[in-house]
Amino acid sequence: MDKFVRVTGAAAPLMRINIDTEVVIPMNRLVAHKRGELGRYCFEAWRYGPDGSEDPEFVLNKPRYRKARILVAGENFGCGSSREHAVWSLSDFGFRCIIAPSFGDIFYWNCFQNGVLPIRLPEYQVKELAVEIETSENAIMTVDLETQSITTPGGRKVAFTGDPERHLALLEGLDEIGMTLKLDSKIRAHQARDRGSRPWIYRREETPHVARLLILAGDGIGPEILAEVRRVVEWFIAERHLAVELHEEPFGISAWKAHGELMRKETWNAIVAADAILFGAIGSPEYDKIPAEARKVDQLLRMRKELDLFCNLRPVRTLPALSGASTLRPDVIEGCDMMLVRELCGGIYFGTPRGREKLADGSERAVNTCIYTTPEIERIARAAFELARTRSGRVCSVDKANVLPETSGLWRDTVQTLRDRHYPDISLSHMYVDNCAMQLVRAPKQFDVLLTENLFGDILSDCAAMVAGSLGMMPSASMGAVRPDGGRRALYEPIHGSAPDIAGKRIANPLGAIMSFALCLRFSLGLAQEADRLEQAVSAAIAHGARTLDIAQPGEKTISTKAMGDAVLTELKQIQ
Ligand code: IPM
Ligand code: MG
Repeated sequence: MDKFVRVTGAAAPLMRINIDTEVVIPMNRLVAHKRGELGRYCFEAWRYGPDGSEDPEFVLNKPRYRKARILVAGENFGCGSSREHAVWSLSDFGFRCIIAPSFGDIFYWNCFQNGVLPIRLPEYQVKELAVEIETSENAIMTVDLETQSITTPGGRKVAFTGDPERHLALLEGLDEIGMTLKLDSKIRAHQARDRGSRPWIYRREETPHVARLLILAGDGIGPEILAEVRRVVEWFIAERHLAVELHEEPFGISAWKAHGELMRKETWNAIVAADAILFGAIGSPEYDKIPAEARKVDQLLRMRKELDLFCNLRPVRTLPALSGASTLRPDVIEGCDMMLVRELCGGIYFGTPRGREKLADGSERAVNTCIYTTPEIERIARAAFELARTRSGRVCSVDKANVLPETSGLWRDTVQTLRDRHYPDISLSHMYVDNCAMQLVRAPKQFDVLLTENLFGDILSDCAAMVAGSLGMMPSASMGAVRPDGGRRALYEPIHGSAPDIAGKRIANPLGAIMSFALCLRFSLGLAQEADRLEQAVSAAIAHGARTLDIAQPGEKTISTKAMGDAVLTELKQIQ
């Protein structure tokens, strides 16, 4: 497309209103003639008489306008059918600019597509221009897009405005496709951000990169349950063409036993390189045998902090068949489906100063510090609001603003301000954490998305576990900020912990970890349908009576960790 910077030439006044595209170029000419040949037929019905001879009275047939490059027209120019040929015929005739009080919408945008500049001016200015052209000696005008000004035949300057992006495109000679290509990097960056904040709306084709999955089974029951997760992952690789690279690294006590250190460099490199980590558990009495110096750093907290996994999602769903496994009455919990959104990188977990010191009188003094900043609160609140938009649109934000007007006060204000500014469609309520703990066991169905800071989320999610029937059923996802390439780090873990008392007995429930892999399919791999498939298989296994000890009611037959894995795989094979 030709650039449009400046045009100087004769201007023709054609002050009729509602000039239709059919008048600009009649339908029969579109069929018979190509672009480049349409100038002859521009305004055909007005230019020529029935015998084909020119009408000398028609403005464009007058000698001074025959080579006009600028058209000054009445309101609603280019109305009627949306044919692009109307602009082609005008430009084939020689027009580069059309000035009118208003245009047919589609005609207006078609002009920009074809290197013709449409200018809207108030009606009185257009009329003044027309009079000045008619009364001037030579009807010559200049339209300068760079300075957005018209120089009239009499030498007056008239300013005009218009859509800046479109003007820029004309200046550079870019049509719609050219403009899109020019914005390519911006579009990619937007998509990258969007994919990170709403991964669930993207399909597999849009995430072609082979994801690196890292299994860190860890301590206690971790290895037993992650063995079942691994079988499920391998089933998806073999049967559902899941494209992932699967690695495993020793973590926790097993790392110590194998390598004499809790975190080898190789392991940390694998952690940093992973697209998603499937984590088992951390915690064992055996840590007491390790030198204090080596265990000073909690490796799970280190991963959360250093990978910046600030967004912790803990879905709480009551499976109908399990409502009897909870200590809460079935009618209180049945049908419950909520999402706890916990801030995971801030608050008292990481705040400094912290420590214990001996005092002169032999007693001790201990300090922990709770800190939050506006951006830390905003980013987790944004995650909660975005998620709420995919659910019922309700968020309840938890704080203790009555006693902690500093951190909790900032929390409440920030969440409310963000909602008012950017998420007016979300219904937001605030609740004190003590009341929330009570409401979770009194009437959990009132909640949909529950937004909490780090420590409150830790406590409330254990509380909410009773709603799901058992802590063993609860999965979680911890996600980082979106990287420029659109990916984000993530760690998936059951929330139950290492349960050293039952470790090695092969009775642990692997479903929390298996459901965590379902979250990985959904959030890291963008495979919502596969996630549904796995969640459905878990529900079916439960519905068909598979029970590990933690979810069995008195008298019910219980099965091993591995048998529970088998039950899920059996169901997966059944689902179409
Ligand atoms: C959790 C756990 C962790 C926490 C521990 C193991 C550090 O309780 O994920 O809920 O307190 O965050
Ligand atoms: Mg916890």
